[in-house]
Amino acid sequence: MAQQLSAKFVIAMFAGLVAVGMAKAEVDVEAAKALAKANDCLKCHGTDKDKKGPAMSKISDKYKGTPDGRAKAIKHMTSGPTVKLSDGLEVRHRIIDTKDPKELENIAGWFLSH
Ligand code: HEC
Repeated sequence: MAQQLSAKFVIAMFAGLVAVGMAKAEVDVEAAKALAKANDCLKCHGTDKDKKGPAMSKISDKYKGTPDGRAKAIKHMTSGPTVKLSDGLEVRHRIIDTKDPKELENIAGWFLSH
C-alpha cells in the first residue's frame, strides 16, 4: 500500500516536472526582443556577435545543461553586478526595468535560446 502510494507520487512528480520543462521551453521572442531593445541590452549583446558584452550564444553555451541557468541570468540582470566590458572598462551591469517574473523569465529564456 505504502509502496503503491509512493510510486504514484513519483509519477505525479515526474509529470509535474515535464510540464514545467515544457512551459519553460516556450519563449515569446517578439516580447523578449522588445524588452531587450527598450533596455539597451542589444547595444552590448548581439545574438551571435560579441559587442561590449558577450554574444547571447556565448551566454547560452555557458549555461547549457545548467538547470538554474535562467535563474542565474535573471539574477545577473536584476542585481547589477560589476562587469568588464570588451574595451576593459568596468561598469555596473545594466539593471532591467521590469520586476515582472514572467517578463524576466521570458527574456532570460530568449538569451539562453541562442
Ligand atoms: C554596457 C554594456 C551592457 C549592457 C547595456 C547590457 N549588458 Fe549584459 N553583460 C555585459 C557584459 C560585459 C557581460 C559579461 C559579464 C561577465 O561575464 O563577467 C554581460 C553579461 C550578461 C549576462 C550573462 C551573465 C552571466 O552570468 O554570465 C546576461 C544574461 C546579460 N548580460 C543580460 C543583459 C540584459 C538582459 C541586458 C539589458 C537589460 C544587458 N545584459 C545589458 C554588458 C552589458
